[in-house]
Amino acid sequence: MTLPPEAYMWFKTLHIIGVVVWFAGLFYLVRLFIYHIEAKELSEDLKFAFYEQYSLMEKRLANIITTPGMILTLTMACGLLIVQPSWIYQTWMQVKLVFVGALLIYHFYCYKLMNMLQNNKCKWTGQQMRALNELPTLLLVIVVMLVVFKNNFPTSAATWFIVSLILLMLFSIQYYAKIRRLKEDKS
Ligand code: HEM
Repeated sequence: MTLPPEAYMWFKTLHIIGVVVWFAGLFYLVRLFIYHIEAKELSEDLKFAFYEQYSLMEKRLANIITTPGMILTLTMACGLLIVQPSWIYQTWMQVKLVFVGALLIYHFYCYKLMNMLQNNKCKWTGQQMRALNELPTLLLVIVVMLVVFKNNFPTSAATWFIVSLILLMLFSIQYYAKIRRLKEDKS
């Protein structure tokens, strides 16, 4: 079977859409875990109603958005490699696959956390969950840089400046959340 000439562009379009859906799901899932954990501060009667609601939202998000996003990304990636198999021999692609592997571990670890939360066995704090939520951001930045720059991965001062700004932004978000929680605890 021969694929039409525009097949590569279609695979790439759907691959990028898959990436957007997958990451939207991953980011929101861990945010729901934070709300789920912090619901323990509510009164007894409210707490269990919130636990149930968050459990339902997490399950639906993971199964209807996050995992289908992952499947779309990976199946379209296979399509891209079938049309252009030479990519697999390039260093940037091999490095990218290592980071995609890390992302897959993160994805399935989120399922483990979701099960632990639903069985009231999760010992993570909201702050730890917030820190975990930064990991996919870092993986996203690295993978997108790899596909854009390929084997010419930039190492100039400007690159390190941009990377430092991204890291500063991530740490500021963590710091702001911590300060806000301390203020809430005091009041
Ligand atoms: C098994 C995993 C994956 C494989 C084999 C794969 C493979 C590819 C290939 C072959 C391209 C086309 C490159 C080009 O035409 O220049 C591509 C594009 C792209 N990939 Fe992936 N990919 C995978 C996972 C991911 C993941 C997890 C992300 C996001 C974190 C991602 C983000 C992108 C983006 C943004 C593009 C578009 C780049 C551009 O057009 O300049 N990919 N991918």
